[in-house]
Order: sequence, then C-alpha cells, then structure tokens
Amino acid sequence: METMIQKMVTEDREIAKRAAEIWRSGGLVAFPTETVYGLGGNGLDPRASEKIYAAKARPSDNPLILHIADDDQLDELTTGVTEWMRAVMEAFWPGPLTMIVPKSERVPYETTGGLETVAVRMPSHPIARQLLREVKLPIAAPSANRSGRPSPTSASHVIEDMNGRIDMIIDGGDVGIGLESTIVDLTGARPMLLRPGFITPEMLQEVLGPIETDLAVFKQVSAEVKPKAPGMKYRHYAPKAEMKIVEGDREAVASYINQKLAMQQDKKIGILTTTENQMLYEGGIRISVGTRASLLDIAHNLFRVLREFDAIGVDAIFSESFPAEGEGLAVMNRLLKAAGHQVIRV
Ligand code: TXA
Ligand code: MG
Repeated sequence: METMIQKMVTEDREIAKRAAEIWRSGGLVAFPTETVYGLGGNGLDPRASEKIYAAKARPSDNPLILHIADDDQLDELTTGVTEWMRAVMEAFWPGPLTMIVPKSERVPYETTGGLETVAVRMPSHPIARQLLREVKLPIAAPSANRSGRPSPTSASHVIEDMNGRIDMIIDGGDVGIGLESTIVDLTGARPMLLRPGFITPEMLQEVLGPIETDLAVFKQVSAEVKPKAPGMKYRHYAPKAEMKIVEGDREAVASYINQKLAMQQDKKIGILTTTENQMLYEGGIRISVGTRASLLDIAHNLFRVLREFDAIGVDAIFSESFPAEGEGLAVMNRLLKAAGHQVIRV
C-alpha cells in the first residue's frame, strides 16, 4: 500500500476533507494530537478497527480510544451522560483526558476489545480538532506506533512504523505533551486512574473527589496485579535493548553506572540522563532527556530518546530515576514499563 504523507502545519480544509473521505470509506489516517500521534479509523466500523489492529500488529483484545470533536457526540457512544462525565468534560475537554464509560449499542465490540465499556476523549490539538469536526464520526485511534514500540511524538516516528501500512500520515510536526492521555475509569463506585498522564491525580481529585489508582500503574503485572486497562499489561513503550533504572542520589547513581561502564568497555551502553547530570558519566552513550527543573520537558522527550537508543543500537541502557509526583507520575509509569520494572537502588 502506498502511504500518502501530507504536511499540515495549520488548519487546512482541503486536507481535512481528504482525511475524512478516507475515514468514511474505511481507511486509516495517522494524525497529530497534543499527546502523541494517533492511528485513526472509523470507530463505528468494525472492519476499520480490525485494520488498525493489523497495521499496529496489536492484539485485538486491547481496546481503542474514540476521539470526538463535540460534547454531543458522547451521547450516542454511552448509555447515559452522568454527573461525573459532565464534570470531566467541563474541566478537561478538549484536552489530554480519556474517560472510560459504559458503551452504547452503536459502539462495536471490535472497537472495545469485547468490553461493555468504551474509552472516549476529545483532543485539543487544532489539527486533530479540524479533522474530527470535518468527519463528524468518532475516530478510533491508538498511538500510531507498531505494537511494543514507544509511542510516536513526531511524524518521522509514524513514518518509521507505519509507512506502507496505512492510507495517509498527516505531518503536523512535533507533539506538545509527548506521553499518552490520562485515563480515568468512571464505571465503578469510585473514579479510578488507569493510566497517569499530563492531567494529574490531584487535578482529577479537585473535580471528582476521591479517586482510586489501579495497582498496575506502578506494580508489575502478575497473577495478583491485573491492569484494568488491557493495554497496560503488554510490554509497552519498550526500547529494543534491556533497560535498568538506577535510583538514589546523583553521585551514587553516577558512580554505580560508571562502574558498570568500566566493566563493559566492549559494549555500547546507553545512559538516559539529564542536563544537570550528563557530565557525571565517564563514557557510554549519554542522551539527555531534558532538565530536572521541568518534568514536562522530560515527558516531552522521553519516547523520542528511547527511539534514539534503538536507532543507535545500544546493547543495554541505564536510566536515571525521577520523582513519581505530579507529571512525574506519568514519566515513571512509562519508564518502569520500558524497563520491565527493573530498578536498582543504590
Ligand atoms: O493520548 C492518547 O490517549 C493517545 C492519542 C492517540 O489519543 N492514544 C492512545 O491509545 O494512547 P492507545 O490505544 O495506545 O492506548 C489506549 C489505552 C490502552 O491501554 C487500552 O487498554 C485502554 O486505553 N483502554 C481503551 N479502552 C478501554 C476500556 N474500555 N477499559 C479500560 N481500558 C481501556
Ligand atoms: Mg499505545
């Protein structure tokens, strides 16, 4: 399949119409959102969902998020709009917040991975908004990476993973946030955080009152810890090389990693470091993920840096650790997954 690659830096009706046409005829279009690039198809068309799974090589029990442009569109996707849903829409939409709600009959099981619930979000990226307004359909869009690779934060990442597999890639430049949306499940007795993101638990609590956090946000998946978001059980966001997180104060971390470097001089060792610390390492392939003064900066760069280590072909990666608070919660959640929960405390 020939993939059309189309630059779209500002809103452009002609391009939006072309994308909408592809979606209406059952095809796939990747597009930028404020979090990561999405791989979109008509969320009401079971065959489009099947194509998404095939293009990503993703297991089909892993449900998709529906993207909408208007509050009204939620009505037909769920069985009834509740107070919690209204509060979340008011506070966070359009924006990087996905809610899990009971699904209506219109939503096919192919889209929800067989579940009775559906994930819905209204992105704020101007290009995503224009496309969604034009097509007037809920667009199912997982992150536009091949299954198991870090989510794409620029069109070049999407081209790497999807060229030749989908109809169109819209190149809207680098995304803003760089980590996927926060997911909150509104179907239980209490709201539950399933995936941390730019919208923090504190921000959710202000709007929804007390919330719970799915154990799988921080613990490794096991017989006891089964994530509520099926996608969180897969080895996600992973670089090709084995990664270990080294936790402790900065000198201790650096001296541990330097020792390892000295012992493995024949190997290409990647070090995921920060502006403040990169000078502490004696060798290795150091890539700074940003400044510790801004966890948002680190969130923005994390997936790109993991892809850079892949491109270099390092044999192993050591990563610094970050405080798991506020936006750092999302950073550490993704980092722990990428590292398969291997943490060395020094
Ligand atoms: O920021 C984002 O959310 C991006 C952009 C493209 O919007 N999309 C994204 O989609 O991250 P994806 O498919 O990569 O991740 C969706 C996650 C998966 O972990 C999936 O299991 C979970 O949402 N999910 C979807 N529907 C669900 C449901 N009904 N119940 C529980 N978890 C659900
Ligand atoms: Mg994904």
